[in-house]
Amino acid sequence: MTAYDYETHEYDVVVVGAGGAGLRATLGMAEQGLRTACVTKVFPTRSHTVAAQGGIAASLSNMGPDNWQWHMYDTVKGSDWLGDTDAMEYLAREAPKAVYELEHYGVPFSRTEEGKIYQRPFGGHTTEFGEGPPVQRTCAAADRTGHAILHTLYGQSLKNNAEFYIEYFAIDLIMSDDGQCQGVLCWKLDDGTLHLFSAKMVVLATGGYGRAYFSATSAHTCTGDGGGMVARAGLPLQDMEFVQFHPTGIYGAGCLITEGARGEGGYLTNSEGERFMERYAPTYKDLASRDVVSRCMTMEIREGRGVGAEGDHIHLHLNHLPKETLDLRLPGISESARIFAGVDLTKEPIPVLPTVHYNMGGIPTNYWGEVLAPTKDNPDNVAPGLMAVGEAGCASVHGANRLGSNSLIDLVVFGRAAAIRAAEVVDPKTPVPTPNQRSVEAAISRFDGLRYAKGHVPTAELRLDMQKTMQSDAAVFRTDKTLAEGVEKMNDVAARMSDVQVTDTSMVWNSDLMETLELGNLLPNAVATVVAAEARKESRGAHAHEDYPDRDDENWRKHSLVWFEGMKAGLGYRGVHLNPLTSHNDGGIDLKKIAPKARVY
Ligand code: FUM
Repeated sequence: MTAYDYETHEYDVVVVGAGGAGLRATLGMAEQGLRTACVTKVFPTRSHTVAAQGGIAASLSNMGPDNWQWHMYDTVKGSDWLGDTDAMEYLAREAPKAVYELEHYGVPFSRTEEGKIYQRPFGGHTTEFGEGPPVQRTCAAADRTGHAILHTLYGQSLKNNAEFYIEYFAIDLIMSDDGQCQGVLCWKLDDGTLHLFSAKMVVLATGGYGRAYFSATSAHTCTGDGGGMVARAGLPLQDMEFVQFHPTGIYGAGCLITEGARGEGGYLTNSEGERFMERYAPTYKDLASRDVVSRCMTMEIREGRGVGAEGDHIHLHLNHLPKETLDLRLPGISESARIFAGVDLTKEPIPVLPTVHYNMGGIPTNYWGEVLAPTKDNPDNVAPGLMAVGEAGCASVHGANRLGSNSLIDLVVFGRAAAIRAAEVVDPKTPVPTPNQRSVEAAISRFDGLRYAKGHVPTAELRLDMQKTMQSDAAVFRTDKTLAEGVEKMNDVAARMSDVQVTDTSMVWNSDLMETLELGNLLPNAVATVVAAEARKESRGAHAHEDYPDRDDENWRKHSLVWFEGMKAGLGYRGVHLNPLTSHNDGGIDLKKIAPKARVY
């Protein structure tokens, strides 16, 4: 192995990732007086949260009656009864507070006539515990809500003296022999130096792994880096089989057209010009939850009612909406439709197709963001020194399917919760742990091995094999056959990583090496997805299994866990948390209201 020097840094907390969750955690930690560093591979305001469009859910009741119990009910139902009850209660209860904090930090929300935060309808958000009409719960800054939040949080983090290490790529976690996280080893991309960050708490806020698929709304940077590091540290990934397809990615380009478009009155049609969602979801129609709409679109296409020369997509209409609504509420997608589909949406429908958008699964945590290292005796055992928030984590608040606009609120509620918890468990007066040299050397050796990898398969070729396999074998609809094929092919792709070829051995701005490290992170995420999906013999939320079309609560209301030994995946399970944080007598939700039932919209 080539000898490497590294620079050392010591902090109370190191946050890896600077999207919405990472920045909210960074800001919260810094505000509480913890010495906080945020390490990020892209400039903070270019993190993928910047692409979030439609909004952030919170029961503010600005546009009509609403309350946290209705929000919680919708989240439970949206999750297809796989979410953890305590985490879902925490999300719905804390959401209004978290949004008002954002407002006070300076997020430029759109406004109602009276100057309140504007809220729009979104899929699966209802009133009266699913018995009433859709609710306007999604707080929006036009259709650039993520952009507005990200810029505000970055400014506030700087104001509170958080220290940023920008364009640093996290290679691996540094773990003690008894499983405590002690820091993270990073590679500074612009000068090629290595950096060892020692910390009392490491917070993974590295986002999802959408780029394991061929077509995704996710940025090219969404490579599951946190999941990859956690898998290599011997910790499990949870509920990875649940991958969300957003109904309206632009056909061919994959770019997102916000669900806010349907919230503002847009609708879908098939080749017969029929508003087919009225048939599948008579009450909520185009505002049914995402997994339902994506499946209905796929069925229309399969049954020969797709649009276009090849009958392989669907039309989204906004051309009936007033131009002022489009200009005021949806300016971003007007531009995206023009650039990426060549469509003037005031005149023509947008061609759309369900596109990979979000990972419900991730690094298992409790609702404080503490990473779980489940043991036989204690499924909720906490891994010391390690947290995960945002799409990288799995609290589990979205269960088998996330509702639109519950992602941005997840980022800020759980980023904030992690900061509250860190202030309780991290003592600024104690020294940082001495890093385990064996772990540091293992991280450097893996890095060096990939830098000088002289195999036969270029990174781009292996990545494409993975993306094509995931796209066809872990799709909207799955069968025993496609999933078995997916496991076999993904195991083969993962095995070929040992034959990867890196041609550039330099240390400065070496994108060949960086993409290989990213592929090394994507692979365990992708393998875990097909392995957990193949094992789950039921349909639930985003996991639509054609050989087992029904949900099976008796056998499958449980979280999947996947551990790795090298690239070999092993499966386990953990029970869903069924108890709320607050009893009904103390103002909590009536458990009878959220008891499992058929999920119809
Ligand atoms: O459709 C959207 O604007 C996406 C929102 C979300 O994923 O929460």
